[in-house]
Amino acid sequence: MHDECKFASRETVRGFSEKEKQQMQSDTNSPKTNPAANPAANPAQDLELDIDANYAVEIAPDVYWVGFYDQHEQLHCNPYLIRHDGDSILIDPGSVPDFPVVARKVFSIIPAESISTFILQHQDPDLCAAVPIFEDLKPDYHHKVISVQSTSYFVHHYGVKGELIRLSLSAGEAYEYETGSGRKLQFYWTPYAHSFGAMMTFDVASGCLFTSDILGGLGAEWELYHNDQALDNMKSFMQLIMPSNQVLRYSLRLIEQVGARLICPQHGQIIQAEDLPRIVESLWDLPCGMDLIDDPILRNLRGLA
Ligand SMILES: [Fe+2]
Ligand SMILES: [Fe+2]
Repeated sequence: MHDECKFASRETVRGFSEKEKQQMQSDTNSPKTNPAANPAANPAQDLELDIDANYAVEIAPDVYWVGFYDQHEQLHCNPYLIRHDGDSILIDPGSVPDFPVVARKVFSIIPAESISTFILQHQDPDLCAAVPIFEDLKPDYHHKVISVQSTSYFVHHYGVKGELIRLSLSAGEAYEYETGSGRKLQFYWTPYAHSFGAMMTFDVASGCLFTSDILGGLGAEWELYHNDQALDNMKSFMQLIMPSNQVLRYSLRLIEQVGARLICPQHGQIIQAEDLPRIVESLWDLPCGMDLIDDPILRNLRGLA
């Protein structure tokens, strides 16, 4: 088991004013309203906050980062919790070695029995493997495990016990979903980024977009919120996992179209809306995956030999 890092920092982050919180609350009752569609309508406040990553961090009202900065690894995982009226949601809950830390943070906010929904945005063990452990801490298995249908084929093999919800998503379209107590979510298919059945989740009430590996980062340097170092880490990770630049560009356009207030990847650092244009510009021409492989077969296929 890893040692948990003693990590605390002073970071400048975008805070939420009381007016914004009230607006988000009213948006929850108005399903056609996307609170993040026009971020300029809700002027940001820059706040200096002491962030202690040893604890869950509330990144938006009732939305918590419950991740783990592992000082011995380069790939740090960011599970997220949405607390909602005894009907809470865990997004990309994490791995087996990270489980003790993630669970401590989750259970500092909600009891196990209030988890109604697990969202698995692709099939990798760093985000799926802890689900059966969480499930065994619940008094029953009356919860949902949501993923794209092709991802669910793999999720089954983790031995999950909840009800598998197998989504059939259409490219470029939001799939509207509502939990039992009325939390409104939208799912977006992100084909091949970085698996066929990868998806993103938009939480309408908070304006948070959970992008799984897309815009994640790889590196020892870490803070909770995006900074210049994060951009280098992001480039390295995107080049490693994205099959091609075209796949990356598709995901970037989709993220732009969603218009989220906060972009929350499963690795790396949380991104505020105002940082997105510079990130997209920096990544737009980034060669990824197969673009970076050069051998006689590919040269032949590309018509260069
Ligand atoms: Fe992954
Ligand atoms: Fe991942």
